[in-house]
Amino acid sequence: MTDASSMIPIPVGLDDGYAYTKVALPDGRLIVIPSRGRVGQAGVTWIHQGQQHIFEYETENALYSVGAVDGAPTHFEGYPWSGLNRAIAQHALQQAGLAGRTVHAVSGLPVSAFYRKNGEHRQDTIAKKRESLKQAVHPKSATLPAGIAFHEVIPEALAAWYDHVIVEKEGRAVLDDKHVAVPIAIVDIGGRTTDYVVVKDQGILHASSGSLQCGMLDVKQSVENGIQERFDLETLGEQIVAHAVEHGVVRLHGKEYGVGALVDAAKQEVVERLHAETRRHLGVGVELDRVLFVGGGTVALAEYIANWFPHQAIAEHPAFANARGMLKYLRYVCEASNAA
Ligand SMILES: Nc1ncnc2c1ncn2[C@@H]1O[C@H](COP(=O)(O)OP(=O)(O)OP(=O)(O)O)[C@@H](O)[C@H]1O
Ligand SMILES: [Mg+2]
Repeated sequence: MTDASSMIPIPVGLDDGYAYTKVALPDGRLIVIPSRGRVGQAGVTWIHQGQQHIFEYETENALYSVGAVDGAPTHFEGYPWSGLNRAIAQHALQQAGLAGRTVHAVSGLPVSAFYRKNGEHRQDTIAKKRESLKQAVHPKSATLPAGIAFHEVIPEALAAWYDHVIVEKEGRAVLDDKHVAVPIAIVDIGGRTTDYVVVKDQGILHASSGSLQCGMLDVKQSVENGIQERFDLETLGEQIVAHAVEHGVVRLHGKEYGVGALVDAAKQEVVERLHAETRRHLGVGVELDRVLFVGGGTVALAEYIANWFPHQAIAEHPAFANARGMLKYLRYVCEASNAA
């Protein structure tokens, strides 16, 4: 593209989670890809380009394969500023049709990675993440890279609060005064972490906010263990496990087996931990106006968490609440302060 419009940076909300990478675009589109990739070449030659399912990217002299690979686990400590994260984020931007474009992005870190317990920002961690995604990533194909020229990082669950309080009307942003005025808790059930944020008078209550390392990837792990045990297998492909969690069925040696009870037990176990931690952070929530659930885990565990609070609500398309909030923060908070 050489037309003038391709020179204008595109603002995106980039919620690059441990399980899924979600992109919110200004035209309202929401894109999601699994955060699934690994180091090295795909080892597959595509006979028809149109059927390509694995994509290769190079960053900092290392090659990554993203897409329909049996992904290496993303839940290692340095994932948010790793080459693997950059390759997956680049793939998400490519899937969003941003090849060759300059991008301005806001992404997130779990609440406890962003703040110390006393509320101070963890400047080093935040800077590492901010700089990482600005490094170049090159697709190993004819497509042009999407380049992130501006990147800011905010706490993940707080992004969902911005989504909740900033309302877009006819292309303009307005603060929803009713939502801003009242204390609210956001619970973000993700893949690796569950984040808590309590916001009151536009400030974060740090005593009630934080992250628990527990989420849907724990469900996946116990389902994997359970299937291995039941069928006496030494290894099991990551995509087979993902399918089993989603559909309660596993296909082995060409035959399908129901594993619904296993999935149910795994979910129960995670839900119990989440429930205990939620009570620890929020009590019964009497002083809160609302408890808002977001994150993909909210969808996956909907029936298990339905009656935790009398005043709870699930955000619209909860898996995208953070990504939408990141985009709103970028457009209406960052850009407004840059213009000022
Ligand atoms: N639409 C959906 N229906 C059912 N389950 C879903 C849906 N979307 C996501 N999930 C499940 O929710 C889990 C968490 O998804 P989410 O996108 O919130 O994780 P994440 O943001 O990548 O993780 P983290 O916040 O820990 O980095 C996924 O692993 C998946 O199992
Ligand atoms: Mg998340």
